[in-house]
Amino acid sequence: MRWFAGAGSLALVVVVGVLLRGGLTAGAGADRDAAAGQALYARSCAPCHGTGAKGDGASAAGFATKPADLTDGRLVNRLPDELFVRVIMDGGPAMGLAPTMPPFRGNLNEDQARQIVTFLRTLAQPAFRPEMAGPLVTPAHAPLQPIFFNHVIHAGSFQIPCQHCHADARRGAAAGLPSVQRCMGCHVIIGAQDNPEIRKIHDYWNRRQSIPWVRVFKVPEFTYFPHKPHVRAGVECQTCHGPIERMPRVGADRLGHFIPDDLINLIRTRPIVRPLTMGWCVDCHRERNARKGMKAPLDCVTCHH
Ligand code: HEC
Ligand code: HEC
Ligand code: HEC
Ligand code: HEC
Ligand code: HEC
Ligand code: HEC
Repeated sequence: MRWFAGAGSLALVVVVGVLLRGGLTAGAGADRDAAAGQALYARSCAPCHGTGAKGDGASAAGFATKPADLTDGRLVNRLPDELFVRVIMDGGPAMGLAPTMPPFRGNLNEDQARQIVTFLRTLAQPAFRPEMAGPLVTPAHAPLQPIFFNHVIHAGSFQIPCQHCHADARRGAAAGLPSVQRCMGCHVIIGAQDNPEIRKIHDYWNRRQSIPWVRVFKVPEFTYFPHKPHVRAGVECQTCHGPIERMPRVGADRLGHFIPDDLINLIRTRPIVRPLTMGWCVDCHRERNARKGMKAPLDCVTCHH
């Protein structure tokens, strides 16, 4: 018994030692990465982004769209690491940004790109904390859209409120998509000269056409879903649509209608998934109705005409 306890505490000492060393090397590793990233940055990025990364490098002085100020924490702290890596490796267009941000694949590998990101994170004001930027989300079913409109840039980085563009959500059944005019309100100038994706907005505007966005979330015709009561009751957009502000392309976990799902959800043999099944609607309604003052419908005719 004593032997057993002794061996146990020895094992504990060994485990703690390993954990401590692991922690220390992780810290030192991050410092090493940042130093390596700083050297790579000076060579590859500073000519355009500036030695202090404020977007004021001489090589980009003539660009209409200036390189981003990579020290502005308000804009960059919410951008996932993966967005930086994709933009560095594949260039601005990988995220819908201007092609004047060139691809570095061939000159840098992904580890080096990550070292640069580690370095840039140390420059941010206000300071960067890892919990500010969740990972990028790439849903299984995300259709290609006529314009690469990126929610990570608009709703993530620039924090444009969801309802600035989906303005009917609080007053109508549909949330609505923004008109070309709403896009033009910002893009008459922003990006018009050197971003082909933004030039497409001007083409639709000049042709007096609306942009033929491909629909993602849809319930069947015989079902009635109104946004207004949900928004009024304080249900967040993300509860039903996922973390849209981290999706370069909006999509759903699953698309289409799958009858067995409704039956399975009703008998609850597996967790509810997000693609708007009846069991999922009803489950939340039951759960909310257990709270005071809530009366979300459970009768068939409110949801079915
Ligand atoms: C030839 C000039 C040029 C070079 C070299 C360059 N960039 Fe850029 N970069 C730009 C421009 C211009 C933009 C702005 C694109 C836009 O907003 O549409 C940009 C945008 C970015 C963005 C997007 C930031 C955001 O907030 O959306 C990141 C990240 C970035 N650059 C990182 C780097 C890194 C890291 C390097 C070096 C490996 C680098 N860039 C080298 C011109 C350059
Ligand atoms: C409130 C202002 C605002 C509105 C409204 C707006 N944008 Fe943007 N948009 C921006 C800003 C700021 C950027 C970042 C510019 C940069 O750094 O290149 C941007 C970038 C873009 C880009 C390049 C990055 C990306 O997202 O792919 C595209 C394309 C774009 N916008 C399309 C649109 C479309 C389409 C609409 C209308 C549905 C729209 N924008 C509405 C402000 C706006
Ligand atoms: C600057 C305008 C703008 C802002 C801000 C914006 N969106 Fe969007 N949203 C769009 C456009 C344009 C589309 C259609 C193209 C696409 O799917 O990317 C769209 C598509 C969507 C869709 C899919 C619609 C469908 O077809 O089913 C959802 C859901 C959505 N947005 C939710 C949000 C949420 C949640 C936020 C805030 C976190 C937000 N949006 C912020 C412009 C915007
Ligand atoms: C309770 C779940 C729920 C919430 C909360 C919710 N949505 Fe939706 N959303 C849906 C469903 C279901 C559809 C499909 C509706 C249909 O087919 O008629 C949809 C469709 C959409 C569409 C595409 C078509 C349209 O115009 O309705 C957009 C855009 C959208 N939602 C944005 C938002 C935004 C922005 C918010 C937050 C302000 C939000 N949604 C909150 C469930 C939700
Ligand atoms: C995350 C929770 C949640 C989900 C998911 C959800 N609802 Fe609701 N629903 C609510 C709440 C909360 C209310 C408002 C209750 C109140 O105001 O007392 C509501 C109200 C409604 C109403 C009542 C409208 C009115 O005018 O009284 C309808 C219809 C409805 N939901 C349909 C749906 C449908 C269809 C789905 C699935 C596609 C769905 N809901 C999914 C929470 C949810
Ligand atoms: C809170 C809203 C809501 C209520 C209440 C509701 N349904 Fe549904 N129902 C839906 C939605 C959303 C769908 C579409 C599901 C999908 O596409 O997976 C659906 C689908 C169906 C379908 C098609 C079945 C299938 O899987 O194809 C039938 C039949 C149906 N409902 C019957 C009923 C009956 C009967 C009741 C009353 C006992 C009822 N519903 C109550 C939202 C509701």
